[in-house]
Amino acid sequence: HELKLNLEQIEKGGYDHFMLKEIHEQPRAIIDTFRGRLLRSEGIIKMSGVEDNMKKLLNADRIIIAACGTSWHAGLVAEYIFEEFARIPVEVEYASEFRYRNPVISEKDVLIAISQSGETADTLAAIKLAKSKGAFVFGVCNVVGSSIARETDAGAYTHAGPEIGVASTKAFTTQITVLALMALRLARAKGTMSSSKYRLYLQEIELIPAKIERLLKVDEKVKEIAEIYQHVPNCLYLGRGFNFPVALEGALKLKEISYIHAEGYPAAEMKHGPIALIDENMPVIVIATDSEHYEKIVSNIQEIKSRKGKIIAIVTEGDHVVKNLADHVIEIPYVEEAFSPLLTTIPLQLLSYHIAVMRGCNVDQPRNLAKSVTVE
Ligand code: G6P
Repeated sequence: HELKLNLEQIEKGGYDHFMLKEIHEQPRAIIDTFRGRLLRSEGIIKMSGVEDNMKKLLNADRIIIAACGTSWHAGLVAEYIFEEFARIPVEVEYASEFRYRNPVISEKDVLIAISQSGETADTLAAIKLAKSKGAFVFGVCNVVGSSIARETDAGAYTHAGPEIGVASTKAFTTQITVLALMALRLARAKGTMSSSKYRLYLQEIELIPAKIERLLKVDEKVKEIAEIYQHVPNCLYLGRGFNFPVALEGALKLKEISYIHAEGYPAAEMKHGPIALIDENMPVIVIATDSEHYEKIVSNIQEIKSRKGKIIAIVTEGDHVVKNLADHVIEIPYVEEAFSPLLTTIPLQLLSYHIAVMRGCNVDQPRNLAKSVTVE
């Protein structure tokens, strides 16, 4: 028994929980995911699963992304990235809804299935359905040789390494990395992105791990915020554009491990309902980084503030406007907006982690949840 405990401690590499270890592994995991694929000096992205099937991908009428849980959130981020970079229409589906809906699918469709474990039953069923209708199926999995990896026509692995914590962290950021590389490769092939922007983006991806490394130093600050809000019954997360899915993911993380009721919303939808919930007891986490929607987010923050809501804002270093409005700010390094989810998600992971630890929750194995859901 003692031996087992010691082994586990070694596996946790000095961290108290696998989740914290995996949060900190993200710079490394992202490097491992783009290594050998992103060849910046040559200006090339090399992904054999994409290269070998270039025609099918370029001729696709649309891309359907099917996934569950956190992988579905990565799919939503990918939707914004694919449409922006490669101008390919994308639909993101909960695998469980898609498979039972008698969806319209044809040989002109490409289905991208995203799954950390590669074993999620609903995602696997969505793949089988799409294949039976003649669609080309591309997998983004973390576990090598998993059922989904074997069932798909082609794919690209994330190289996150084993993810033990039930709440997904490094799988999410590496999924976004793979999908962003893929979108960039297709954008180049289609000519939907200027070469200067393409080069800038290649460079930007390479800089992400170091930026995350720097960002991880906000941990103490996040812990202080967690201390203040650990007992709240509800929490709201808001974001726009590329960061709307991050708001959903932030809320999911908090629910999963701290059992606090949390909801993520696109910030503009606040006025259609959630604003009714805001009072002096409601913490609202707002992703307000430098973006095309910055002004809009600022007015959302003002609306929350005038109703006495507590604001925890994720901002870009050097921000002044939101800093003066929010109760707490967490700064992230500047990054091109399309890749910002890779950074903005990190403090939200840490916030959930610290709140869950303070509440005495079983962070790595939350109640009622499983790492891999092989039942329908
Ligand atoms: C479970 C896990 C989640 C995960 C989801 C999808 O619910 O607890 O962390 O996001 O399944 O899993 P997959 O392995 O398909 O990414």
